[in-house]
Amino acid sequence: MFATRPIPNRYGTIGIELEGLDPSTLGQPEVRKALWDLFIEHGLIVFRGLEGRDVQVNLSNVFGKTVEHRAKPKNESDGEVIRIRYAEDMGIICDVHGERIGGWLPWHSDLIYVDQINRGGILRPVIFPETGGETGFIDQIQIYEALPEELKRRIEGLWVLYKWNLDFNEMRFGNPDQVKITQWNPFWVEMQSRTPQYPLVAHPMTYKQQETGRTVLNVSPWFAVGIEGMRNEEGDALLKEVIDHCIDERFAYYHRYSQGDMVLWDNWRILHRSPGVPVDQIRELERTTIDGDYAFGRIAEDGAAIDDKLRVSV
Ligand SMILES: [Fe+2]
Repeated sequence: MFATRPIPNRYGTIGIELEGLDPSTLGQPEVRKALWDLFIEHGLIVFRGLEGRDVQVNLSNVFGKTVEHRAKPKNESDGEVIRIRYAEDMGIICDVHGERIGGWLPWHSDLIYVDQINRGGILRPVIFPETGGETGFIDQIQIYEALPEELKRRIEGLWVLYKWNLDFNEMRFGNPDQVKITQWNPFWVEMQSRTPQYPLVAHPMTYKQQETGRTVLNVSPWFAVGIEGMRNEEGDALLKEVIDHCIDERFAYYHRYSQGDMVLWDNWRILHRSPGVPVDQIRELERTTIDGDYAFGRIAEDGAAIDDKLRVSV
């Protein structure tokens, strides 16, 4: 049907590459079942040799309902596909070790700052920068397995609190290089202005993948503000210890895009980030949003249920 091979990282392997998928077979139940099983097993699939937005959407629909983006402005959204574009005139620029980097993003799970986190997405490259422009991935099942037993015991039953805040300068955890935003784009300024409307939410620090029973270390460094019931030095030290483990680069895989790639990730168990591009480069990807809710998240303090329009899926 198609060929797969594991993708190496410094710890072992993460996800798979998949070649030979014929897009005209995506309607066939046995093909869909095989792809679904690989998705659950590996969480990250780099498809090779696939082209076009229609194939991207059809492929996304194998793994859930592809939904229209709820909040992106018209120039960044085209129905079911979001455009992720960095260019110097309109992009986020950061100071990374004294160097200006375009389109940098920290490790995160999409939508972790609301109570319902989407299933995943598929990325497809459109404009390739000369250098940089990779997407980084970390498997949260792998990082749980590698966690010291003593730390596994200490985090049992804990919940992590998240709060919407796009400003990396104010990240409490997971930004060890102290990357700062030096140029905001207008859309981010608008999104950041909504901050007071987002209630604090909580997600369990670990949960079990329903199909396999494997434990996921469910911590997104971006947006994490503390541990529920432990908003003190002890709790912060524990969360820092866990997040330092989560972002250990030996677990990471950075995908450099080639023509024909489509990259699927399971947002319920794979962290992702963008290490960015040199400031004068242009990078453009198109991304689908696969709907879903793992149903463990909740509002952590009083506050009205969040308006759907506020789910912006960074
Ligand atoms: Fe994201």
